Amino acid sequence: MELLDGRKVSSELLEGLEKEVLELKRKNVHPHLTVILVGDSPASRVYVKHKKKACEKIGVLYEQLDYKAEEMDTKKLIAKIHKLNENPRVYGILVQLPLPDHIYEPEVIRAIEPKKDVDGFTAYNLGKVFLSTEFEDLPPATALGIIKLLDYYKIDLVGKETVVVGSSNIVGKPISMMLLNRKATVTTCNSKTRDLKSHTGRADLLVVAVGKKGLITEDMVKDGAIVVDVGINRDDDGKLYGDVDFENVSKKVSYITPVPGGVGPMTIACLMENILTACKRLNNIN
Ligand code: GUN
Repeated sequence: MELLDGRKVSSELLEGLEKEVLELKRKNVHPHLTVILVGDSPASRVYVKHKKKACEKIGVLYEQLDYKAEEMDTKKLIAKIHKLNENPRVYGILVQLPLPDHIYEPEVIRAIEPKKDVDGFTAYNLGKVFLSTEFEDLPPATALGIIKLLDYYKIDLVGKETVVVGSSNIVGKPISMMLLNRKATVTTCNSKTRDLKSHTGRADLLVVAVGKKGLITEDMVKDGAIVVDVGINRDDDGKLYGDVDFENVSKKVSYITPVPGGVGPMTIACLMENILTACKRLNNIN
């Protein structure tokens, strides 16, 4: 068994991006990300802290707008986003999800200018992911991170029997589409899938993005499979766990991502890549 080491691969990616930022600054272009955080979810605070740290590491200007849940509503948030859309210094806009229940998420995401949508969550950017690899300009960062991690380890996706567990708009659906673009044979399972094990057990590549600790046990995984665990579940003791029972599943697979240190750091690095992609395109730099 070999670990798919997201820490190592992401730090190599970030080194390259840091050099690109220096190049851009020489051209007097200053990449800038604005993050909007509404409410006080501890998990969201941790995620945005990682994003801030990565921006600071590679030299991207980071700005965070914090709002209390009760002082924000859908209309006000959309007005804020429109201002950022029009601000020429802002190249990336990221609304940390989930939003509080009284804010209507689809309408908020729709307000983001697709060219500044570094999360790749707007219909426009997701639609492009639907077309082919050629149009994957700003794909969701987690999906891009998974592809880059598999590429780094030279895992061939063509014709690969692949099962994705989870069908969210931010991970399950886009990673399914990106694998399909690379000619994998893809099955996407969701919360209503009957006999999950009959699907996962066939997978040569298994991607799990559900958010349930220990969902995937060793009896559900084929010998020699490649397993990508997107889950980030925090236990009462504060320890992080994936969706896969790593201890037992890792004994029978060929490759597996650890949690932490697998997909998480790849997501952050690919968000940084998206920020630079957006910044370059907005400045007509190739
Ligand atoms: N919440 C969980 N994952 C993400 C992400 O990738 N981007 C944003 N904006 N919110 C999230």
